[in-house]
Amino acid sequence: MDEWEEEVLREILSFYRGERSELIPILLEIQANFGYLPKEAILFVSEFLNVPEGHIYSVASFYKAFRLLPLGKNRITICRGTACHIRGAHQILQEAEKVLGLKEGETSSDLKYTLDTVACLGCCALAPCLTLDGKVHGLMSPEKIKTVLASLEDGGESDV
Ligand code: FES
Repeated sequence: MDEWEEEVLREILSFYRGERSELIPILLEIQANFGYLPKEAILFVSEFLNVPEGHIYSVASFYKAFRLLPLGKNRITICRGTACHIRGAHQILQEAEKVLGLKEGETSSDLKYTLDTVACLGCCALAPCLTLDGKVHGLMSPEKIKTVLASLEDGGESDV
């Protein structure tokens, strides 16, 4: 954690009184600023609230909203809304999990990929769909997602 990040963290904590009940709002605010919960931030919060680090990790692991790793360089977000679901979103997610070796919500240890799901991407006519680094890819299939992910391995971006 660099100086600037430490300053941001101190600024966040300055709005709180240091009560245990503030744990979740503090973690949410840290994540909103950093995109995840850096381990140095967890240590700060642990000291600030006088709560063991282990407790904070178990809270952070319990709630799906929290991330303990930064987002990967490539972010794959698969829609599991109704329109996508009935057109096979689950199989697409399974294929992505298999190819990337990740479960939904996880980031690879080399920080190359983050695999997420979302309730609806707002392009149901293209169901099933996903976004790759914010760009929508529609009419997906397990075969197509393999091509999309392979293109990332090659360093390029697929138009599939
Ligand atoms: S349900 Fe997937 S885009 Fe709407």
